[in-house]
Amino acid sequence: MIELVKAKLADIPAMQELVASEVKEGIILDRSEDEVATNIRSYVLAKVNGRLVGYTALHIHSPRLAEIRSLIVDEDYRGRHIGQKLVQFTLEEAKDLGVKEDVLVLTYLPDFFAKIGFKEINKEGIPEHKIWTDCIKCIHFPVCNEVALVYKI
Ligand SMILES: CC(C)(COP(=O)(O)OP(=O)(O)OC[C@H]1O[C@@H](n2cnc3c(N)ncnc32)[C@H](O)[C@@H]1OP(=O)(O)O)[C@@H](O)C(=O)NCCC(=O)NCCS
Repeated sequence: MIELVKAKLADIPAMQELVASEVKEGIILDRSEDEVATNIRSYVLAKVNGRLVGYTALHIHSPRLAEIRSLIVDEDYRGRHIGQKLVQFTLEEAKDLGVKEDVLVLTYLPDFFAKIGFKEINKEGIPEHKIWTDCIKCIHFPVCNEVALVYKI
């Protein structure tokens, strides 16, 4: 039975372990334990019998724009719609919080997000703030093949 729960600080070591190989490959941006802790309220976790099997984060940029970050599902649990449930949870959160326009995602998997209703946008539409705080930390910067998509709230 999959349950979606908000993250607690005690979840951080398991979160870091789950994402380690994708961070190494440059698929997901490395975030320090302190950065995860600072943003702990952004994260939603998928657990099966209390074991962490996936998570994502909803980061608020402004009253108009939020962003889905660090989506990961344990390889052994992929293909069971856990990733989709995590994204849908964050979209509901964005609505509840009153985000007015868009939820952004930067990804190598545009088809996964298109299935949920995200539409591709030109990368010029990405806020500069994102580029200067996150993209510069990425091992692929500045030659980035990620696709930008938005979900209209
Ligand atoms: C992307 C990821 C989170 C998907 O998790 P998942 O739980 O296996 O995906 P779901 O089972 O919820 O898939 C939902 C739908 O998307 C499809 N889908 C899943 N992975 C996909 C992919 N890589 N490309 C295209 N479609 C995909 C599924 O077939 C499913 O379609 P259906 O509704 O027609 O059956 C998982 O593969 C992962 O952790 N990947 C590595 C990290 C990563 O790339 N994260 C994205 C960073 S933005």
